[in-house]
Amino acid sequence: MIISVDGLRVQAELETLATFSDDAPPAVTRVVFGNADRQARGFIKHLCAEAGLAIREDAVGNTFARWTGSDPTLPAVATGSHIDAIPHAGRYDGTVGVLGGLEAIRALRRTAYRPRRSIELVVFTSEEPTRFGIGCLGSRLLAGVLDEGAGKRLEAADGRTLDEWRTHAGFTGSLSSVRLGERSYAAFAELHIEQGPLLEREGLDVGVVSAIAAPASLRIAIDGEGGHAGALLMKDRHDAFLAAAEIALAVESAARSTGSDDTVGTVGVCDVFPGAVNSVPSRARLEVDVRDIDGSRRDAVLDRIGRACDEIRQRRGVAVRIEPINADAPARCDARVMDALVLACEEHGLRYRHMISRAYHDALFLSRVAPTAMLFIPCRDGVSHRPDEYASPEAIERGTTVLADALARLASE
Ligand code: GLV
Ligand code: MN
Ligand code: MN
Repeated sequence: MIISVDGLRVQAELETLATFSDDAPPAVTRVVFGNADRQARGFIKHLCAEAGLAIREDAVGNTFARWTGSDPTLPAVATGSHIDAIPHAGRYDGTVGVLGGLEAIRALRRTAYRPRRSIELVVFTSEEPTRFGIGCLGSRLLAGVLDEGAGKRLEAADGRTLDEWRTHAGFTGSLSSVRLGERSYAAFAELHIEQGPLLEREGLDVGVVSAIAAPASLRIAIDGEGGHAGALLMKDRHDAFLAAAEIALAVESAARSTGSDDTVGTVGVCDVFPGAVNSVPSRARLEVDVRDIDGSRRDAVLDRIGRACDEIRQRRGVAVRIEPINADAPARCDARVMDALVLACEEHGLRYRHMISRAYHDALFLSRVAPTAMLFIPCRDGVSHRPDEYASPEAIERGTTVLADALARLASE
């Protein structure tokens, strides 16, 4: 099938989307349910309505835009990603899968092709863990991996609950209503920038993802004793930050201890109280992220971090409390959806490889309830979660073409 994707239009839409941000360009900050996120949602819905798609939103703000197939009783074929962005991010993470997904549908609608199954674009709420500390909030609820009770307990740093924030953004109703019905989707394919260097280094057009790594995160609270930075003798101290610093180093060494490039550990948040230069820290709070493609190896790293915390606690005379936030299993992608992507690459003469995703994505949770795969496109120097993140219009156009072709194949089955 000849599919003509309008790469310039997607590029222009990505530029407009990047203007909905709480940061000065080129940085993008768009935290779920904040003003920028709400404006961005309005923009996307406007584009979907303009494309003639039927729009629906659920109680947590996941947004669905559907092209109804000739047999609407069949499970649909879906694509999509997220538009929220971590603080000081770039403009391509997630957004390429949303605007590329929309353009894939628009491109198919410009041909004579008409799908048997409906094709649906999904814009997932809060793939990033920024506001509520947990990633893939919308897709977890869709997959039933997070239940209503756990959702109700989620709280932002400002003390407002998920229920308060979503009501503020106009999303009401029971969180349990978000869960997808049995066999809602016959297939799900997410387009995303690679966020790593392999495709660019190897001069390839796309990556067909075969597995998604297992993410886990922890909050660690350290309580020591504060005091005067001049008067409190070094030998009498129980400095909470120094214990936190040792724990951060223990995270690094636990991740390195497996000897595999597939194990990674990061301490991305460290809050110190009271935060005065002449005051010994009495409290510190860490947020820790550990991932591996091998779930049991990831769990062994978590155990090692736990043991290190215990040792540091005793030696430094501080209290250490570990709160696990999530420890998800890895996902294997579905062979039939991967095949559709491969056939689409071959049809359009594009060079591809199979690869794993070290980042997590909404596809990790959709894979629990639908046959799922992902398609990566190269991004410059493999950079992501930074303002200089970049994917070329040509790369986006190629990925969108493969996605459109694969969606058409899957929606004809
Ligand atoms: C998603 O942004 C991730 O952290 O993998
Ligand atoms: Mn991200
Ligand atoms: Mn993403």
